[in-house]
Amino acid sequence: MRIAFDKENMDDMTKDIKNKTGEGQTMWGGRFSASPGELMQAINVSIGFDRRLAEQDIAGSKAHSDMLAAQGIITAKDRDAIHQGLDEIGEEIANGTFAFSDELEDIHLNIEARLKEKIGEAGGRLHTGRSRNDQVATDFRLWVRGKLDMFEAQLTKLMQALLDQAEANTDTIMPGFTHLQSAQPVTFGHHMLAYLEMFARDRSRFADCRTRMNESPLGAAALAGTPYPINRDMTAEALGFDRPMANSLDAVSARDFALEALAAASICAAHLSRLSEEIVIWTSAQFQFVSLTDAFTTGSSIMPQKRNPDAAELIRAKVGRIVGALTSLTIVMKGLPLAYSKDMQEDKEPVFDAFDALELGLAAMAGMVADMTPNKDRLAEAAGAAFSTATDLADWLVMNLNMPFRDAHHVTGTIVAMAENQGKTLDALSLPDMQSVEAGITDDVFRVLTPLASASSRTSYGGTAPSEVMKQVKRWRDVLL
Ligand code: ARG
Repeated sequence: MRIAFDKENMDDMTKDIKNKTGEGQTMWGGRFSASPGELMQAINVSIGFDRRLAEQDIAGSKAHSDMLAAQGIITAKDRDAIHQGLDEIGEEIANGTFAFSDELEDIHLNIEARLKEKIGEAGGRLHTGRSRNDQVATDFRLWVRGKLDMFEAQLTKLMQALLDQAEANTDTIMPGFTHLQSAQPVTFGHHMLAYLEMFARDRSRFADCRTRMNESPLGAAALAGTPYPINRDMTAEALGFDRPMANSLDAVSARDFALEALAAASICAAHLSRLSEEIVIWTSAQFQFVSLTDAFTTGSSIMPQKRNPDAAELIRAKVGRIVGALTSLTIVMKGLPLAYSKDMQEDKEPVFDAFDALELGLAAMAGMVADMTPNKDRLAEAAGAAFSTATDLADWLVMNLNMPFRDAHHVTGTIVAMAENQGKTLDALSLPDMQSVEAGITDDVFRVLTPLASASSRTSYGGTAPSEVMKQVKRWRDVLL
């Protein structure tokens, strides 16, 4: 079948596209007969997404025109007209009255054209000593920097929610897992603080990234710098950058700041997905470790008993598009010769999409952690199951009978098998039964066989004992307030 070349079928496809886009609104209604000019515009246009850089573009232009006037490159009068015009344009964009045009390709040309429309010749002087290449690099850096600051604040909120849960549950006993098999009792507070530590590292990764990226590309011009007597320190300072970038070729072609931000975002999203997965497991009917309110769950349209942890599932999935964005931009940048190439226009959409996803994921996770109620009875019951204090028994044999650990391990294995046969937990076995395996065992052993005793004994630095968890809670309280 040659469906792709079937004339009737093609007309149908064209009609379909026309219906979807709204006839007459775009030129791709007639995409199969589009002229080379139309196709060029279709592939070149970026205003559909880079309009998100409007605020940064205006800030960059104001800093640039300020500097041009300070250096005597344009007059103070022209600068004032430019500022006035840019402020008005900013308002038009904010209140939705700005007419974005595809013909004008991107946000930079849209704003500049409107400026000329408003203030005439002075508008044409704004672009002196500057190129769209350093302009877009500046705008995008400013945008990413703003998001890094937002992620830091969001992570702080999430850490505070985890800290609140930890503080309220320093002695809430739960099973600790390895291989998702019950391993040793831990405290719920300890488990919360494990995530707090991860998110703290994410936060510091974003902060490191911000420090490294906070240099200004503005004034690099197209690629080689400019003969005008510009002052790059002045524009850098005005835009909150620490200094101008030292190499003009690098300034217009570097996108590693976005890659690094995406890498940090990917790691953070991976952490979010791990916590999400635990919440999905914990809220299941089989576990019932925690419950969520209606605020973070949905019902099923067919099964009335269901309460689905959709928010956790969606956060768990967001990591896909975030890592996808990192891959996408890495491949865009790979093999690009210096300096600017239009390939780099493909930098924005993945970053926008990934950062939107992370923003939502962090907000939802902070809300969900605060919303979560641990089911203490159920956690305690699960903590005592599966002979979770077997290691404590072995440690007791080592410490009290001076037994080599390997022998103690063997003795404990025999006692666990006995408990299993009797259908009992370790602390429910009788002393004579235990003594039938190892005569030296005394009554004192029961002191370590309960889950709470087990967890409480783990007082090594960073361990799960309530006393240690409380110390860590205090430490974080001082840091997070
Ligand atoms: N829209 C372009 C981008 O995002 C702006 C820079 C265009 N520069 C150029 N020389 N065509 O990369």
